[in-house]
Amino acid sequence: MHITGNTLLVTGGGSGIGRALAEAFLALGNEVIIAGRRESVLKEVADANPGLNYVVLDTSDAAASKRVAEQLIVDYPTLNAVIHSAGIMRGESLRAGATELDATVATNLVGPIRLDGLLLPHFLKQPHAAIVTVSSGLAFVPLALTPSYCATKAAVHSYSQSLRYQLKDTVVKVHELAPPYVQTELMGERQANDPHAMPLKDFIDEVMGIFQHSPDAEEILVERVKPLRYAEVNGGYAEFFKNFNDQMAAARSGE
Ligand SMILES: NC(=O)c1ccc[n+]([C@@H]2O[C@H](COP(=O)([O-])OP(=O)(O)OC[C@H]3O[C@@H](n4cnc5c(N)ncnc54)[C@H](OP(=O)(O)O)[C@@H]3O)[C@@H](O)[C@H]2O)c1
Repeated sequence: MHITGNTLLVTGGGSGIGRALAEAFLALGNEVIIAGRRESVLKEVADANPGLNYVVLDTSDAAASKRVAEQLIVDYPTLNAVIHSAGIMRGESLRAGATELDATVATNLVGPIRLDGLLLPHFLKQPHAAIVTVSSGLAFVPLALTPSYCATKAAVHSYSQSLRYQLKDTVVKVHELAPPYVQTELMGERQANDPHAMPLKDFIDEVMGIFQHSPDAEEILVERVKPLRYAEVNGGYAEFFKNFNDQMAAARSGE
């Protein structure tokens, strides 16, 4: 994607990766609109970043997505890019049923696919445009503690490929950002302070470097996510999967 000259919507832009990317693109002179469910959070971020706009949107809500997308196109006729950072990640014990399935699928998978459908006709009329999906290293090696989450992220990877293929002869470029474990509050405060997670600033710096130096990269992969991304290609997947999940389960049992 072009790193300047965009009018960019960042869902989940009130916190974590979405907020940091919104601020990075704003600093480069792009027009940026952040979206999320909590207006107080969005307002606080907008107040801290002069020029940053916000819109309240629950991306799991079909009617709200349609209404807000239509209004955004009216309010920002040059809107040409979206980063789908809105997401939820919750633990589930499948023996008790996939209690988080509906909300997770609605937010992580249906939300971005539906929003793309609403924005694409407009994006296709722009001189250049970009859709950035946000999957995860866990799309490639599932963390068994969060089964619905990992299933949605694997599906986002699949969808991103189909979307890119269907749009290959158009102005709309499709990038899949697959973060590693990063210090945000995705799973609560503990994650934001976990020394095993990648510091948010380091992650964003590396991501922005990739956007800048490899504007055609189909997948945005920082070095830290590559062991997960390429686990299957690298061979010994079954062992990698087992060791990864055994380590994570052991870490959790010690809490
Ligand atoms: N941090 C990591 O380790 C990591 C790793 C891999 C992938 N990711 C992905 O990166 C993305 C950003 O996560 P993060 O780590 O930055 O966590 P985060 O700080 O919790 O950000 C998630 C954002 O999504 C918003 N959101 C949640 N549900 C929404 C909905 N239905 N509609 C609109 N906005 C919604 C939240 O704001 P509201 O509650 O105000 O709506 C929040 O601002 C997610 O897709 C996540 O899966 C993160």
